[in-house]
Amino acid sequence: MAAAIIDGAAIAQEVRAEAARRTAQLAAQGITPCLAVVLVGTDPASISYVTGKEKALAEAGMIGRDIRLPAHTTQQELLELIASLNDDASVHGILVQLPLPQHISADAVISAIRPDKDADGFHPINAGNLLLGRPAYLPCTPHGVLHLLKRMQIETNGRHAVIVGRSNIVGKPLAVLLARREYNATVTLCHTGTRGLASYTRQADILIAAAGKPHMITADMIRPGAAVIDVGVNRIPDPSKKSGFRLCGDVDFEAACGVASYITPVPKGVGPMTIAMLLQNTVQAAEQAQNR
Ligand code: GUN
Repeated sequence: MAAAIIDGAAIAQEVRAEAARRTAQLAAQGITPCLAVVLVGTDPASISYVTGKEKALAEAGMIGRDIRLPAHTTQQELLELIASLNDDASVHGILVQLPLPQHISADAVISAIRPDKDADGFHPINAGNLLLGRPAYLPCTPHGVLHLLKRMQIETNGRHAVIVGRSNIVGKPLAVLLARREYNATVTLCHTGTRGLASYTRQADILIAAAGKPHMITADMIRPGAAVIDVGVNRIPDPSKKSGFRLCGDVDFEAACGVASYITPVPKGVGPMTIAMLLQNTVQAAEQAQNR
């Protein structure tokens, strides 16, 4: 039987509608949630992501303060901008799009964001609180993956979740979150150093591909009946497209459909969930600022 395709776009729309409803409640009290979205340089993928985020913010009734800086911006200039956004009471959240140009330390920049304005959940304080199971802004992509699993009623309790990829943005936080009692999964975290990768992925009840390598997860690596979550967003050349490229995931989707029980497509799988969870974090930041 072919896998059920998880409609990330539709589920994201539900989350966005809820964020819009909370935004309207704040607006009734004279507050408009505002996220400062900072992009340094002209990486085409980053421009596309940032544009998508700003469009979603506007649709939910929030303000996306669009700040675009040239690639030659110095680290000091960026840190000064962040300091001013930290002090600006009309800004509830701050997002600096990654990757940053080579001459700027992402660690230094992320650490400079006020933790209570860290809509991405990347600040060491939020990452530490997440690890300890304390309240924190959750990073948007892991949070989106968890929401998809919940919404599709995919059981995590006692199940084996195998994650491929150990990034700070996706793999690491997902491993920690899925191991929480609330989800109660047994977690295996695989990465580029894993020997015999397929021997692990074939044990997965839930297989999460977050390695950033096109089609690296082939059908033979998937246990029949597994739920497959594809976090990969890879641009591969496609002369038949006006843009010259198309998006593909880390999973060989067509072949995997014949093996998996559930699968997320790329695009319209995890991607839209990331944006939806960003809206949720932004409205949460504004609500918390209001309650202080
Ligand atoms: N680059 C890729 N994903 C993300 C994300 O979720 N947030 C930011 N700020 N940059 C990214």
